[in-house]
Amino acid sequence: MANRWTNTLTERDVTPEAAFLNRRQLMAGAAGLGLVGMAGTARAAQETLEPNVWEDITQYNNYYEFGTGKEDPAEYAGALTTKPWTVKIDGMVDKPADYALEDILKAMTIEERIYRFRCVEAWSMVVPWNGFELADLLNMAGVQSGAKYVAFETVLRPDEMPGVRYPVLDWPYVEGLRLDEAMHPLTIMATGIYGKDIPNQNGAPMRLVVPWKYGFKSIKSIVRITLTDKEPPTSWNKANAREYGFYSNVNPEVSHPRWSQATERPLGGGLFARRVPTLMFNGYEDEVASLYAGMDLKANY
Ligand code: MTE
Repeated sequence: MANRWTNTLTERDVTPEAAFLNRRQLMAGAAGLGLVGMAGTARAAQETLEPNVWEDITQYNNYYEFGTGKEDPAEYAGALTTKPWTVKIDGMVDKPADYALEDILKAMTIEERIYRFRCVEAWSMVVPWNGFELADLLNMAGVQSGAKYVAFETVLRPDEMPGVRYPVLDWPYVEGLRLDEAMHPLTIMATGIYGKDIPNQNGAPMRLVVPWKYGFKSIKSIVRITLTDKEPPTSWNKANAREYGFYSNVNPEVSHPRWSQATERPLGGGLFARRVPTLMFNGYEDEVASLYAGMDLKANY
């Protein structure tokens, strides 16, 4: 059953994992026999997706501070100390401070949001996040009128993060949003998955989730949030500005210079993995297209 966000599914849509696995095996078998036809429209194809199982979500990750392999984060991120955790909120806010995460959580309402998650590498999954709206946190700190952007920073702990020995990116990992994107009700800070604490490899104890943008915008293990009037630098844009822009909205019509973004591979398909069409703004067009009215989305990629 959809909640007030038409594309946001709720807990009732999550198939119990065991039942889901059985059905998936049945479907895979049926597909192998040619009994399941390809979905007609892009939207229909996407809406048949169900949340991925825990293993898909937590064993295939991008968290380069722990290595560039998909299995590296699950293997190494356990070393990250996430308690206690402090988030500095500074810049153009009324109440700049080092906020203890436990104090933030006491003031926030945790909800479940089941979102599509589309990596720029063209794989995707559906994740049942638990978290709170970023707008609530920003309002708690009091955004000043001149602020136009929000900058985010991941913790940098060389002793706990074997991947930062290598200059794959300019550490710490940094990201940014325009203020209206950050205040949008779909934008959340996730602290859990499937009702459990978010695992370290997924960005414990608190990571950003912006479901209409490529996954790399959803920065993990955040220790600093800065309100600013200038577009903040972002890690992948610094590494390769031609390939990764500031906006990075999911857009099937704008190719990555090295591959098409028109289709994606949903994780969990196993042997019968198929590609499905990618949706404009990852299926959240009705909710977010107005943020970009009049903008050339090819120039502002
Ligand atoms: N945040 C940090 N700090 N470091 C990273 O390497 N990878 C990004 C994003 N956030 C990344 C990060 C990329 S490329 C993706 S696709 C998502 O995290 C992956 O999130 P997941 O592992 O929870 O699926």
